[in-house]
Amino acid sequence: MHYSFPEGFWWGSASSAPQTEGESLSHGKTPTIWDHWFRLQPERFHHGVGPAQTSTFYEHWKEDIALLKALNHNTFRTSVSWARLIPDGTGAVNQEAVAFYNQVIDELLRQGITPFINLFHFDMPLSLQEQGGFENRKVIDAYEAYARTCFELFGDRVTHWFTFNEPIVPVEGGYLYDFHYPNVVDFRRAATVAYHTMLAHARAVKAYRERNDGGEIGIILNLTPSYPRSQNPADVKAAHIADLMFNRSFLDPALRGSYPEDLVALLSQYDQLPACQPGDKELLAAGVVDLLGINYYQPRRIQCRDSQVNPDSPFMPEWFFSAYEMPGRKMNPYRGWEIYEKGIYDILTRLRVEYGNPRCYISENGMGVENEQRFEQDGQIQDDYRIAFVRDHLKWLHKGLSEGSRCLGYHMWTFIDNWSWCNAYKNRYGFVSLDLESQKRTIKKSGEWYRQVAAKNGFDE
Ligand code: FCB
Repeated sequence: MHYSFPEGFWWGSASSAPQTEGESLSHGKTPTIWDHWFRLQPERFHHGVGPAQTSTFYEHWKEDIALLKALNHNTFRTSVSWARLIPDGTGAVNQEAVAFYNQVIDELLRQGITPFINLFHFDMPLSLQEQGGFENRKVIDAYEAYARTCFELFGDRVTHWFTFNEPIVPVEGGYLYDFHYPNVVDFRRAATVAYHTMLAHARAVKAYRERNDGGEIGIILNLTPSYPRSQNPADVKAAHIADLMFNRSFLDPALRGSYPEDLVALLSQYDQLPACQPGDKELLAAGVVDLLGINYYQPRRIQCRDSQVNPDSPFMPEWFFSAYEMPGRKMNPYRGWEIYEKGIYDILTRLRVEYGNPRCYISENGMGVENEQRFEQDGQIQDDYRIAFVRDHLKWLHKGLSEGSRCLGYHMWTFIDNWSWCNAYKNRYGFVSLDLESQKRTIKKSGEWYRQVAAKNGFDE
């Protein structure tokens, strides 16, 4: 069968500044929470490898863009580093950073690759985290000023903007489950950070629209379809709560401009609602996006907890549900995540049926592999498993398109193997492999395959 995609479909990949640039404490850049946390607790990072060890995009940007071109990308996402552009978090702009991002944007355009620019990818400047990060409303002002600066500097050429990547992740990681700095475990604070993040998002959307630059602005959400273990009402309800907390807490304000009533009712029942101020409601309503980026890796398999309320623990989502091991589900043998290709179709279908079929694209999807070097033959990684992974997800995306979804493109995570937070280089994700010592880049078999898919705007199977 031949799978062809609509004309102009976006073929590309995604990355981020903190995971690729390097030069993390030089050329004017100040520390983010990652630089700081690594200084405090290097043992929390795989093999003690911190945010300074990257694929050095700051130096190799030209070569990397040539590689993107070689892979036939017509689009590419990366982010701007707030702590590089505005080293104090607010105020003076670092001109060296402006020159750097200008070069990157101009070179992408020169190569016919549309830059998609995201403003925040987990990299809170430390100076602002010291003021409470997004727990503090003043940081919303700082974020808006940063967003305005980016639009002002680059908005004449950048037409695809995103406010946040996976905004739930710093909330979960930093305030619930201890896998991001500041390592707090407190639901109320988590809810406040989530709420303020969405207000910051809406401020940026408003600021962008006021400019009339003619481009579009969106947000990138990691959506995790939540499937109940059984159709018994308790499991169904538990899956519904997981969905409210981890998907709809950002999806509804992004697409409908307001929070789900069920979520508000649940949090107020347990006295966990963040404090609102006059004007917030209108602001959120103004934050409805032009374009939704969907990151999809794996679903959530949910079962109801036996005892729902534990008065001795802080309020946690686990009051209501927990994950369960589903026998027979397909796993990635090299990383331990579930592979469920149909999830991508379920997301697109839900958006079409329940959310008015918004313009969207797959902004991340990919497969991490531990010790990937073992698959090297004659100098190239033979990652047939990644080809199968991408192809099978594309088939389900294609089915979504044939049923009317407005999915405009596909970005694989990621272009070159990069630094992945606490996992550092444990799992490799790229179309291009990276030798960390020599910085040599080599296109993997999957990169060669994707080059053809992009050239033909489809594939045969
Ligand atoms: C996503 C992040 C991205 C990368 C991949 C593996 O959650 O957006 O930065 O770490 O996971």
